[in-house]
Amino acid sequence: MKILILDDAKAASARAAGLIAAQVAARPASVLGLATGGTMEAVYARLIALYRAGEVSFAGVSSFNLDEYVGLAGDHPCSYRHYMRELLFDHIDMAPGAGHLPAGEAPDPEGEALRYEEAIVAAGDIDLQLLGLGLNGHIGFNEPTSSLASITRLKTLTRETREANARFFPAGETPPRLAITMGIGTIMRARQVLLVATGAAKSEAVRQVIEGPVSARWPGSVLQMHRNATLVLDRDAASGLE
Ligand code: F6R
Repeated sequence: MKILILDDAKAASARAAGLIAAQVAARPASVLGLATGGTMEAVYARLIALYRAGEVSFAGVSSFNLDEYVGLAGDHPCSYRHYMRELLFDHIDMAPGAGHLPAGEAPDPEGEALRYEEAIVAAGDIDLQLLGLGLNGHIGFNEPTSSLASITRLKTLTRETREANARFFPAGETPPRLAITMGIGTIMRARQVLLVATGAAKSEAVRQVIEGPVSARWPGSVLQMHRNATLVLDRDAASGLE
């Protein structure tokens, strides 16, 4: 794993966006794996700025997001499809329909998970997979004890994750219990992985992922086994490292 420690979250987001832009410049038809959540907001804002400055074009890019809540239609304001439109897709030149997410409202979520995995395989797998990190070490919605070989499937979210994500839902509404998520095996097939973690709250998860044993207890620790994984951290997130 390559570990980059930047001064603050702004610098970490800028570095991550720069690495994504470099991937797209090197391969304009890149298949990107994308993430949602608070950490990615600044990364996508920076990518949009790079696009507006003419430094990157996404015209040939396609993408697959890591996950989506089960039961939320794509136009639900808390769905990840809505997040991606608002924070990235509507502001760059990606072709219509090139940004894929699992269909959270599919009547057969298990079948939808399998279809999504097959679509990733058919696209030739992911060139660069962007990841955030959960407080409990999850990547995508692969919660602790997820199989390290798993493919896209249904996962039950832990109480900790639902509490952490409640901030994205209106008062009185709680995040769904189930999500469709790429598996750890799916993520590990990506040719390059780029994990971004910022803020002191992530320091224990970062420590476990980098310095702990490879263990399903801290799913991100599997990245120790990836051939081309870069972790972009700010000083606060890196503060637990030896
Ligand atoms: C989001 C995802 C999650 C988040 C993680 C961190 O698509 O798969 O793994 O990346 O929960 O979220 P934030 O950035 O909100 O702390």
